[in-house]
Parts: sequence; structure tokens; C-alpha cells
Amino acid sequence: MKAAVRNQSLVVALLVLLLSVSVKSQLTSDFYGTTCPNLLQIVRKEVRNAIKFEMRMAASLLRLHFHDCFVDGCDASILLDGTDAEKSAFANLNSARGFEVLDSVKNAVERACSGVVSCADIIAISARDAVVLSGGPSWKVLLGRRDGKVSNQTTANSALTTPFETVDQLTAKFAAVGLDTTDLVSLSGAHTIGLAKCSSFSHRLFNFSQTGAPDTTLETEMLRDLQSQCPLNGDTEKTVVFDRNSADLFDNHYFKNLVNGKGLLQTDQELFSATTTKSLVQSYSEDINLFFNDFRNSMIKMGNISPLTGSEGEIRKNCRVIN
Ligand code: HEM
Ligand SMILES: *[C@@H]1O[C@H](CO)[C@@H](O)[C@H](O)[C@H]1NC(C)=O
Ligand SMILES: *[C@@H]1O[C@H](CO)[C@@H](O)[C@H](O)[C@H]1NC(C)=O
Repeated sequence: MKAAVRNQSLVVALLVLLLSVSVKSQLTSDFYGTTCPNLLQIVRKEVRNAIKFEMRMAASLLRLHFHDCFVDGCDASILLDGTDAEKSAFANLNSARGFEVLDSVKNAVERACSGVVSCADIIAISARDAVVLSGGPSWKVLLGRRDGKVSNQTTANSALTTPFETVDQLTAKFAAVGLDTTDLVSLSGAHTIGLAKCSSFSHRLFNFSQTGAPDTTLETEMLRDLQSQCPLNGDTEKTVVFDRNSADLFDNHYFKNLVNGKGLLQTDQELFSATTTKSLVQSYSEDINLFFNDFRNSMIKMGNISPLTGSEGEIRKNCRVIN
């Protein structure tokens, strides 16, 4: 091949590559720079108000982003109402919360810039703001997601994690959406804020795995306290804080707790038993900056799970129903 011809085919190949890249557009932090310039201030204000009213809401909003992204990507499918929608999956039913808050964030955004900003982006920004307002790290949220038109309970049941799994099972569910072991451990640090129901961990308290005794990895004093808060035949809907050290503060106490046998969920404590995750738990417990850096990176990765972009999906007017 003559050099000129080779150069020409190289140029053509490059053009084709550039075209295919621009067809599947990437998320960018200034996506609404001209179409909704005050977006971030509007969301921050609404989230701040909601958290002022109820501190737990920070945790609930953060969890919604996780549960949205793990099921068919970050497409606000978790917000859709409907009998067989994601909202009725095991992990969400009577547990996922914050929907009314996202309604008011969306309404405030619509008043300023109508029909422009997706519900999926609103969840992602709200989750970041929830972390920041709880004392955690900040990051630039990448934007440009569009909203999905499908919400499937069955898909959610297989994609979402349960508190009864092994670290290998959790790792597989994270891998299924492109997240690795570091993401699993750093993102689990979200359990430094928020609450869980007795039903999420009470199997550890009396007759764990049919051993006839409580989970031996659970520290004794905390065990006694949880047994009295969640007695046999008691109210399984009662809630208990994840981090008894600093319940509402986003810090690295979650990891310090695990090192001390004070993880609330079986799946939390397992991260300090499994050989694949133990040393990272130890590191995060000793170095809050390492945890914050990894958490920030993992949140951006999680926010990038299969977004709809370009002309895919739609921009919902009401986050609960497709247009
Ligand atoms: C690694 C696997 C995970 C499992 C098995 C798990 C499981 C759970 C369970 C069982 C609850 C309590 C639900 C209830 O009792 O109503 C919970 C709450 C929570 N989860 Fe996770 N989770 C995991 C990962 C994550 C991730 C990756 C995040 C976010 C980045 C997250 C954020 C939260 C938050 C903030 C709460 C408290 C919510 C509230 O108070 O409303 N979790 N999780
Ligand atoms: C939901 O997804 C499952 C498999 O993931 C599929 O079999 C089912 O038909 C879907 N349901 C609806 C209503 O689309
Ligand atoms: C624990 O559970 C197993 C299986 O359900 C049962 O056979 C056993 O008797 C229980 N042990 C105690 C001490 O309750």
C-alpha cells in the first residue's frame, strides 16, 4: 500500500471512530449549563430543606440512587409507580423512601426549566448533596442521563442485593453492573448513615444459621442491645441506626464498627471476614481520606451504569409516570 492511501484509510477509520463515539454520548458535568443554569442550586436547596425536616432523608436519598442504578441502569426506573414496578421488589417494598422529596425537587426544577432535566439526573444530584450535607465528600456529578420507560419488579429482585448474601454473591451482583471489589467495600460505607429494620438483621440475634446461638461475629454488648430492641416475636418493622457512633454523620465509623464486630447487617460484618475485602475495610477504618477518595470515585462509577443518553428514553414530566 502507498503511504498516501494508507494515510487516507487511517483518516477514514478515525472519522468512523469519532462518529461512533459521538453517537453514544457521554455524561458531562455541564450538560445543563445553558438549558438549566441554576439546576445545582435548586436541587441543593430542596435537599437541604428535606434533610432539615428529617435527617434520615439524606440516607434514604443516597440509597435510592444505588437502587436505581443497579436495575436497568441509572434511569429513574425506581421512581415509576405501578403494581409490578421496582418499588414492590423485596429490597424496596416498605423500605425505599424519599419519593415525595424527589417529587418536590423535580417540581422545583420544572418551575425553573420545564421539560429539560431528567429524573435520573435529579436522583444523582440529590444523592451527592445528601452525602455532602451529612459531612461526606463532594464530587462533580456527571449529567445527561435520560429517563427509562420500564420498571420491572422481577429485574429488581435479581439485581438488588439482600442482607442475607455472602461476599461472593455481593461481588457477583456488583460485577454484573461493572463494579469491582473496591466499589463494593467503599460504597458499603454508605451504611455510616441511615437506619435498618429489625427484619433486616434479626436472624443474627438468636438462632443464627440454625446454630441455636447468635452470630458469633457480633460484639456482645451490641448483641444484647439489639436483642432488646428487636426481641423474638417483636415488631419487625422497628428501625435501628446503622452507626451507633455517629448515626447521621457521613464518616468512616462504619468501617471502625466492622473492625470491632459492630456491623449491623450480616453482609456488613462479612466484609471484615472475607479475604477479598478484609484488608480494605481495615484501611478505610484507619484512613478516612482514602475512604472518601474511593467512595467519590465509586459513586461516579455507579452513576455511570448504563445511562440512557442522546435520544434514548425521555425526559419525564412527572417522575412517577412515563409521559
Ligand atoms: C453491598 C450490599 C448492600 C446490601 C446487602 C444493603 C442492604 C441494605 C439494607 C438491608 C438496608 C436496610 C433496609 C431496611 O431495613 O429497610 C440498607 C439501608 C441503606 N443502604 Fe444499603 N445495602 C448495600 C449496599 C448499599 C450501597 C452501595 C449504598 C449506597 C451507596 C447503600 C446505602 C444505604 C443507605 C444509605 C441505607 C439507609 C437508608 C435509610 O435509612 O432510609 N447500601 N441497605
Ligand atoms: C420483567 O423482566 C422479566 C425477566 O427479567 C421478564 O420475564 C418479564 O416479562 C418482564 N416483565 C414485564 C412486565 O416486562
Ligand atoms: C434453631 O433453628 C433450628 C432450625 O429451625 C431448630 O431446629 C433449632 O431447634 C433451633 N435452636 C434453638 C436453640 O432454638
